[in-house]
Amino acid sequence: MRLNSPQINIICKACTKASRSLIRDFGEIENLQVSSKGPGDFVSSADKRTEKIIIDELLRAHSDYGIISEEIGIINEKNKTHKWIIDPIDGTTNFLNGIPHFAISIGYEENGEIISGVIFDPIKNEMFIAEKGNGAYLNNTRIRVSNKKKLSDALLVTGGPKFDSKKKDNIFKEFIEISKMVEAPIRKFGSASLDIANVACGRFDGYWQREIKYWDIAAGIIILKEAGGFIDFIETDKNFPLKRNIIASNSNIHQELSELVKKNIE
Ligand code: IPD
Ligand code: CA
Ligand code: CA
Repeated sequence: MRLNSPQINIICKACTKASRSLIRDFGEIENLQVSSKGPGDFVSSADKRTEKIIIDELLRAHSDYGIISEEIGIINEKNKTHKWIIDPIDGTTNFLNGIPHFAISIGYEENGEIISGVIFDPIKNEMFIAEKGNGAYLNNTRIRVSNKKKLSDALLVTGGPKFDSKKKDNIFKEFIEISKMVEAPIRKFGSASLDIANVACGRFDGYWQREIKYWDIAAGIIILKEAGGFIDFIETDKNFPLKRNIIASNSNIHQELSELVKKNIE
């Protein structure tokens, strides 16, 4: 069984096409020119190349759809009802250091709601796909969140804080507090989209992170929900709608994890 709405087909085609050049670039990582985009946040020519292939493909299918993409920003701003949300390489630091853990993430939003999404890890050849009401899949297999019942038994993953975060100390404190509640040391893998995808397929039981961007997790929202998981955005700032604080987990530990995260930052 495989999902095949027009949007999913378009996204999969764009991902597959872009992944060819991404895999080539990964093989030649030492030749890539890296320019600094700000502290702790590097952008490589591979990001831009991958983004262009994806956007060309999406615009070929629907020239009028809105696009929010990490490197290029916004295209077709007037279209508020149909939007692609793109992170061409989620896990750039891993990518640039030759660590094979990164993904292309593309979500499709209709009237403000993400209704389909794909996260593609081109190195492991793992494609996570979901569509509202039709379940979530890893390659051709249906996925579900874990059934872990207690937070103390959970394997959690998180990320950050960013180098220039104003809440750095709070975020570290939160990490310590949550670490004390779980037996297994908390993981940090450096790719928010894959963190959520891995909650969706039950490898992790929960993920939370402060100060990420909408494109990091747009596709992950629908993949996790369709896999039976719960997702919460907390303390959203209306002035910065693309900035998010996320809690995503299986349904059993969601309340416990949410309460812990909410109480830890004022
Ligand atoms: C980053 C990754 C990382 C998260 C950062 C993101 P990028 O995205 O998702 O896991 O901790 O907050 O910025 O820069 O590799 O696309
Ligand atoms: Ca990202
Ligand atoms: Ca990125």
